[in-house]
This record gives sequence, C-alpha cells and structure tokens, in this order.
Amino acid sequence: MEKLLEFRHITKVFPGVTALDDINIDLYPGEVHIIVGENGAGKSTLMKILSGAYEATSGELYMEGKLIAKNSPQVSASLGISMIYQELNLVPELSIASNIFLGHELRRGGFVNKAAQEKRANELLKEIGVYVNAGTLVKQLGVGTQQMVEIAKALSRQAKVIVFDEPTSSLTDSEITELFHIIRLLKERNVGMFYISHRLEELFQIGDRVSVLRDGKHILTDTIDHMTMDDVIEGIAGRKIENLFPHVRKPAGDPMLEIRHLTGSKFSDVSMTVRAGEIVGVSGLVGAGRTETARAAFGIDKYESGEVVVCGRKLPKRSPSRANRLGMCLLPEDRKTEGLALELSIRENIVVSSLKALNPRGIVRAKNEATEVGKSINSLEIATSSMEKLVRFLSGGTQQKVVIAKWLLSNSRVFIFDEPTRGIDVGAKSSIYQLMDELVAGGAAILMISSDMTEILGMSDRIYVMSGGKLVGELDSEGATQNEILKLAFSNV
Ligand SMILES: Nc1ncnc2c1ncn2[C@@H]1O[C@H](COP(=O)(O)OP(=O)(O)OP(=O)(O)O)[C@@H](O)[C@H]1O
Ligand SMILES: [Mg+2]
Repeated sequence: MEKLLEFRHITKVFPGVTALDDINIDLYPGEVHIIVGENGAGKSTLMKILSGAYEATSGELYMEGKLIAKNSPQVSASLGISMIYQELNLVPELSIASNIFLGHELRRGGFVNKAAQEKRANELLKEIGVYVNAGTLVKQLGVGTQQMVEIAKALSRQAKVIVFDEPTSSLTDSEITELFHIIRLLKERNVGMFYISHRLEELFQIGDRVSVLRDGKHILTDTIDHMTMDDVIEGIAGRKIENLFPHVRKPAGDPMLEIRHLTGSKFSDVSMTVRAGEIVGVSGLVGAGRTETARAAFGIDKYESGEVVVCGRKLPKRSPSRANRLGMCLLPEDRKTEGLALELSIRENIVVSSLKALNPRGIVRAKNEATEVGKSINSLEIATSSMEKLVRFLSGGTQQKVVIAKWLLSNSRVFIFDEPTRGIDVGAKSSIYQLMDELVAGGAAILMISSDMTEILGMSDRIYVMSGGKLVGELDSEGATQNEILKLAFSNV
C-alpha cells in the first residue's frame, strides 16, 4: 500500500531547545497512528509542522509520495490535512453550518448560499451520527458536540489526514465512545489519522501503530499488537514504573475539611469530610457539579447556604485568600486561564504562592527560591532549558506541571485537586501520586476530583460520587469497582 504521509528527517529547533531531532514517521491510509510521549516531547510541534503552523528547521514532508515543498496552513488544508485540537477553533456566535463552511463557503451568484450549506452540513452530521440541526449556534453546544462539528468540518474539506491532539481530555465517557465510533468510520473510508493522547488505555482501543517520542527523539514505532502497556509506559518515561499508585492507607486523623450541606445554583445539599492523612476521591460525570462545589467551598464562587470548615475554623464566603491563609488551596481544572501567568517565567509562577515562606520578612532571597524551584523542576520532570523560560512557550502538559509545583510548594495542609493529572504524562503522574502520598503521610488532607477511574480507584481511601448536582454515594475504595461507581454516577442525571 502506498504511504499517505511521511515525515523524513524532521528537525525543529527553538531558541534553547531542539524540539524535534531527525524524526522519521509515516502514515498509511485507514490507519490510526498513535503518537505518545512525555510532556514537551515534541508531539504537538510535529503536528504543527504538518499543519503548516511551524516551519521545520530541516527535513521533508511527503504526501502521497510527493514532496510538500513549502507548507503553510493553506497548503496543508488544500492537500486534505485537518487538525482537531483540544482547544476547539469554532466561532461560538456562528451556526454549525457556517462554521463547517468557514473559509470555503458554498456560494451562488457570489452570495453565500446558507440553505445549501445547512443542507450539506446536516448530511455531514448525519453521516457521523450527530443529530443536531446545523442551524444551531455553536455556543449552544457542549464540548463533545463541538468536537463532532470539527470532524464534520474536516469531512467537508475531503480530509485524507486528520490529526487529533489530545481530543478526549475534556470529553465525557459517552462522548469518547462516540468519538471512537467515528474514528472507526473514518478508517473504513481510508482516512489516515494521527492521534495524540496521555490516556494510555485508548491506545489499545483504537490504535493500529504506536510511535513514542522522548525529548524530541524518535524512540520506537511498532504495531499495537506487538506491545504491552508496560512497554508503552517504559518507552514514554524511559524507565520502568513498578507501582503507579503508591498510596498506602493509614488510619485517618481529625477532620481537616468539612463541607456541610452546601447548596448553590449547580449543586445542592453536598456534605463531604476529609480527615488528616486521607485522600478522598470525587467521581462523577462531567457536569455532575463537582468543580462547582469545589470552587464554592474554596470561596471563588458564591453559594446559597451551608458552611465550610477548615481545620475547625469556619470559612467566610467568597474569600479564597482567607481559605489560603487557613492552609487550604485549590488546584483548578482549567489551569491555563486560572492557574498561570503566561507572561511570567516558570520560577515566578512557582514561587508566587509561597513568596512569604521563601522570603521571610519580605526580603527576596533569590537563592532559596532557585533551590526550591530547582527541586520542583526535578521531581516533576518539568521539560525546560531554564527556570527563567516564559510559561507561554511550554508544552500544554508542562504548563500543568508548573501549576502543580506552585501548589505543592505553598505550605498548604488541605488540598482540593481538580483533575490533577489531566494532560500529564505517565512519568510525571507517578511523581505527582508519590508527592500526594507524601503530603498525606505528613498529615495533610486531599480531596481529589477526577474523571480518571483508575486514578480514583488507585489513589483514594474513600470515594464520593456526585450526580446531577447531588452527592449520591460514598464508597470505601477497598473493593469498590468501576461499575459500582458508574451506576451511582448515572443515578441522578
Ligand atoms: N513557540 C515555541 N517557542 C519556544 N519553544 C517551544 C515553542 N513551542 C514548543 N516549544 C518547546 O518545544 C518542546 C516540545 O513541545 P510540544 O508542545 O511539541 O510538546 P508535547 O509533546 O506536545 O507536550 P504535551 O504532552 O505537554 O502537550 C518543548 O520543550 C516546548 O517548550
Ligand atoms: Mg502537546
């Protein structure tokens, strides 16, 4: 079979970092080629070279045996190459149909033929099993459906190659099932796909071949049936990870966080307790009200009734800084907008929440700072050439690690982690789990919201399940099963 696409000796150098070093990877029609690797390994950069967003420093790109002499977003689109990113690129104020045909409108007599666009868009949506009217505005759709619209858009451009860069990180389980169904349909039509993900179980569900990048280098490519999960993990991390979930249960101490009968617009009568030494998981479907409850408890958003007690002291409403002073912190789900200053350096971002502790009496001690930041960079394996690098230039997952490092340094005792390892590579996941275990072993308390079922089961002492804004169950993690949790999660939707 003829190759659909080929990267030959692709190298990409950014100031201070070789993001890609002599990469040779190819793609066949109808193939799902999975690209995995640690944060900052170069996955997105490789795909941006394919889309024409970046120019390779050296190397060549071949499509159906022909050299793409000068790539650009226009050239790659005209060759049938489409990108579907995690952050979607649709215009919220426009209809589905207008989005699908944006930039290649169907016209009649010079005017955009809206009726024809809607008709064709409805056909495309039906082909992929999405039953929403193409006249609907995109802002009225959930993320899952928006992603389906992106796929319909790719199809409207007769895509031969589709790249998915971490498509599932904000999808619900049922949306993921739907996406995989569509990917299988696309395979039958001989579309070739590159698929990037940190959710390693997905490799075995839809992958044909896997390539591993590490530090900008091509480590291996093989068919999925030649590989085990352990091979993949070792390829990515460059070492064996014996025990991904190190948490050992110990008897719990006094209550550190008590959420009592909290009621707000998206949740009602939620009560949760976390004791010293405990990691308590919060499971549920996307939209169950978990993030909203956490944000209200921490004081970011308002709530109508109920109370929150931290280490025996009642928290005033709407005061994250007070919560902070009482030793509580929240690692937000949406870290890019809430947790980071993109125009500041890694060092500055990490030290903001611990400035006082590191610099007693307000005197900035550059040395303390640098030592602590250096430690965080090592333990979380933050991929960077320097701690002075602006956060804006880091890969998606590396940015997440910076936020985590910041909170781990903050001397807090009560932690709420909202999706702590989303988008994070497996090696760093293992370090984060290790750090969480050390925190609770030292007497801290952790409430961990997570949609990753293996993480919930692997790390929690107890598990709360929320559904439709209510707390619907509490399980001891010992002996708890995925099915049991799912049943509860669906009980009030
Ligand atoms: N515009 C840029 N300027 C400078 N450095 C960059 C730029 N874009 C990417 N890099 C660097 O290139 C390297 C590869 O980044 P890339 O985004 O490709 O990683 P990734 O494999 O997609 O990681 P993740 O899993 O976290 O998304 C990183 O060291 C990153 O900091
Ligand atoms: Mg990336």
